[in-house]
Amino acid sequence: MNHVVVVGSLNADLTLYAERMPLPGETVLGTDFVIQPGGKSANQAVAAARLGADVRLIGAVGDDANGAMLLASAADAGVDAAAVRRIDGVPTGVAGITVDAHGENSIVIVAGANGELSPRDVEASSSLFDGAAAVCLCLEVSQETVLAAARAGRAAGATVILNLSPFAPIPADLAEVTDILLVNAHEAGQLLGRRAPAADGEDWDAVSAAFAQAGFARVLVTLGAQGVAVLDGADSGAVAIERIPATRIEPVDTTGSGDAFTGALATRLAAGDSLSDAARYASVAAAYAATGRGAQASYGTDADVVALRAQSSRTR
Ligand code: RIB
Ligand code: NA
Repeated sequence: MNHVVVVGSLNADLTLYAERMPLPGETVLGTDFVIQPGGKSANQAVAAARLGADVRLIGAVGDDANGAMLLASAADAGVDAAAVRRIDGVPTGVAGITVDAHGENSIVIVAGANGELSPRDVEASSSLFDGAAAVCLCLEVSQETVLAAARAGRAAGATVILNLSPFAPIPADLAEVTDILLVNAHEAGQLLGRRAPAADGEDWDAVSAAFAQAGFARVLVTLGAQGVAVLDGADSGAVAIERIPATRIEPVDTTGSGDAFTGALATRLAAGDSLSDAARYASVAAAYAATGRGAQASYGTDADVVALRAQSSRTR
């Protein structure tokens, strides 16, 4: 079957566009306001489906207009969202997002219905894992739910991909059933127990040794304009370290670019690509997403990604 299962959050993104972010206590004038489909897991699912993957999403929304918007967006992309529960009397999750003129964002999320997703929802949809090639997870739902989904994925022989966002320390039992960890520069820094984000000139051998100590053999660190570091210590004692250069684009809105990366990675791994090839493709898919406003609204098809890749290899 080779399908992708995504378990986790769906949010309505309330996005305010402004020249720059307000400082604490400051008011700034914005330019636009949009309510659009988001949530890391829904984003991952939509990204993968747009790229051609067969995707099933397990999650929860409220019985409200935002929930309806999210289900419509998933259906529109071709995601099977039959296992997204609609819960009465609980609002759909929301994200308050500010995006500045450089396409940078800051986000506050309120879980709403996402907080109701439990290991029982995973159990109730356990048949969705049969024959799955990849399972995508993030930390916008409870860690018990994430653990249950990771275990179901592992039992089905799927590659379990965990996006460590929003950051939280990971218990050993979850690390144990995670195959690939995805972190951005900030999350990598936090995971290493330091203040500074991971950066270009990092001692990647030392970093990957620290990750291995925490139980993660295969880690992808997305570094924005510095590209991606692929640390693969799964197959032997030696760690293969690869740096993937960033695709040069003019960022408009980077909201959900990391989720596009995750969804694209799962899509290509499910199609049989190596980790390195899948990561190269995913980094172009993430760059493509940053060229348009919103999260799901900006995700490309395989043709879009292939075209951007061809264009950027010509201009490099
Ligand atoms: O990763 C981007 C997403 O984070 C947004 O869509 C928002 O909903 C938050 O979950
Ligand atoms: Na975008």
